[in-house]
Amino acid sequence: MVADPTVRTGARALAEQCFTAVCDVHDAVFAQPPFAWAPQMATENSEYLRRLMDDPTFGFVLAEHRGHLIGYAFGHRLPADHGWWNDFTEPLPDDLTAEWDGRTFALISLALLPPWRGLGIGGRLVRELLAARNEERAILSVQPTAVATQAFYRHLGWHKVGRKGPLEGVVPPYWDIFIFTVAPPPSHRQ
Ligand SMILES: CC(C)(COP(=O)(O)OP(=O)(O)OC[C@H]1O[C@@H](n2cnc3c(N)ncnc32)[C@H](O)[C@@H]1OP(=O)(O)O)[C@@H](O)C(=O)NCCC(=O)NCCS
Repeated sequence: MVADPTVRTGARALAEQCFTAVCDVHDAVFAQPPFAWAPQMATENSEYLRRLMDDPTFGFVLAEHRGHLIGYAFGHRLPADHGWWNDFTEPLPDDLTAEWDGRTFALISLALLPPWRGLGIGGRLVRELLAARNEERAILSVQPTAVATQAFYRHLGWHKVGRKGPLEGVVPPYWDIFIFTVAPPPSHRQ
């Protein structure tokens, strides 16, 4: 296979063009081990993506080969009153959990179809998504069983800040939270 995918960065309009394909890639990837999966997650994901696309801070990047979607990443800026820092198994430092508008980007979903893995495409999706941002840091949640995914993020410079859970009604009930410093904080925050 020749690894010559096209990577495109955008927002709502780009995601709209391939909405169904994004949902199909999501379901194909996350319905397989090592990920925990429940049937309602397909609908939940598509509805969540629809809501995120309405957020003016939504960011999206895709990889395609010969017109077929092979991978994607998307996220958005977190509002200052988001609940990501709740429900950790261990307390977190105040300087980590302090938020202000524009501080944090959340990488919500990233997936690449299996035949295309190990070719540098997933790393490129993450880099290109973050390169288009102006928040100072990014966070994401990853399932504890996704050991290879966690190693991938560590390799890209992310680090784990802790584990959330147990989260009632959430599959799986525990999630690991990773953080990446995109840019130094503005001087008035130092
Ligand atoms: C995670 C995923 C997107 C990675 O994509 P990929 O294209 O296989 O990764 P890349 O080839 O771009 O790897 C980028 C770098 O990470 C390194 N890397 C990849 N997997 C690694 C691992 N398990 N351990 C250590 N390093 C790893 C690569 O060697 C590469 O290093 P380099 O840039 O120094 O050469 C892909 O495996 C995937 O879709 N997995 C299933 C879905 C998933 O886990 N999504 C994230 C949920 S939070």
